[in-house]
Amino acid sequence: MPLASSEFTLPRTGRVLRNRAVLAAMTNKQSEEDGTLSDEEIGWLLRRAEGGFGIVTTAATHVHPGGKSWEGEMGVWGDHQVPRLRELSSGIGERGAVSLAQIFHGGLRAPRSITGQQPISASVNLERGVEEESRGLSDSEVSEMVSSFGEAAERCEKAGFDGVEVHGAHGYLVCQFLGTRTNRRTDRWGGDLDGRSSFLREIIKEVRDRTSEEFLLAIRISPVHEVGVELGESIELARMICEWGVDILHISCWDAFAGAEDGDPRTLTRVFREAIPEGFPLLSTGSIWTEDDAEFVLGEGADLIGVARAGIAHPDWADSLGEGGFEPERAPFTPEHLLEAGLSPVFVDYMRRWKGFVTDGRK
Ligand SMILES: Cc1cc2nc3c(=O)[nH]c(=O)nc-3n(C[C@H](O)[C@H](O)[C@H](O)COP(=O)(O)O)c2cc1C
Repeated sequence: MPLASSEFTLPRTGRVLRNRAVLAAMTNKQSEEDGTLSDEEIGWLLRRAEGGFGIVTTAATHVHPGGKSWEGEMGVWGDHQVPRLRELSSGIGERGAVSLAQIFHGGLRAPRSITGQQPISASVNLERGVEEESRGLSDSEVSEMVSSFGEAAERCEKAGFDGVEVHGAHGYLVCQFLGTRTNRRTDRWGGDLDGRSSFLREIIKEVRDRTSEEFLLAIRISPVHEVGVELGESIELARMICEWGVDILHISCWDAFAGAEDGDPRTLTRVFREAIPEGFPLLSTGSIWTEDDAEFVLGEGADLIGVARAGIAHPDWADSLGEGGFEPERAPFTPEHLLEAGLSPVFVDYMRRWKGFVTDGRK
């Protein structure tokens, strides 16, 4: 009996998802200069809601103008953004999916050329490819940043979203606080895991305080990241997150089929499933393409499976589950195929940078 097409009930709220397929957050560069959603960005997400995904997540969206990392990035920091956010959330709901906005701040990866200000982070940091050194936030500035996440979540709820996903993965600000390399603070926001995770913990509290009981809260983490995030600590963090009143733990695996680490052939999904409380909703993402892939990851203990690239090329990916044996065509795709799938020329161009995805893109 295929699991991927079966319903799932989120235990804290009783909210029922029509299946296990989640459209993972995908940056697509289609928003307006002031962070407002464009027709193209709304259209591409509504097409995936129509295509059957149980949850549709927006692109990473900055909670403060200073957190914007690239051109065309969606924002949730101002009320001017609400009308179009409402259009998107209601459209997703009308098509039977649950909507999540992925809230984030770029931290050291939010360059002055985009924001007009020096990048900020947990500490003074510089990494390859960034324009300039970040400065470390003061204690009160960290608290203000926590408020920005809370305000953004409140705004998303007002705009009709079912919930938010806090982006704690991939090396952006929350991840920079979690990482030992990027967080060298000696105050309450740094030090051991308890200190380094206090930024995330306070964000969760703030979101909970500012939103209703029904509002969904997912947390996305990287099990391992070069900012100084290591598997052992991520497992410990995952256990802590499960105690903090969130609805979904999302692990970003990139390859959900690989062994967790040298000497441990178990998949990351299996490792996290075994570590967190039984029944706590686990979402796992990374290289899922076919229905068999989805079933494998669910068999490893995920409750929900995240899909990104397959959902770009195949808007009806989720609706195609259920019969068994769904094997959608793989990359590279022609620009015409992607335009047909509801991507704008701007998005197709962005996808040319993803290795092997577009026939005339990066090889
Ligand atoms: C075009 C593109 C944009 C992405 N943007 C984001 C993003 O905004 N936030 C995020 O957490 N992950 C982002 N990711 C990562 C995906 O959510 C996902 O974890 C990754 O692509 C692996 O899943 P896949 O193998 O199904 O593509 C992006 C991936 C792609 C392909």
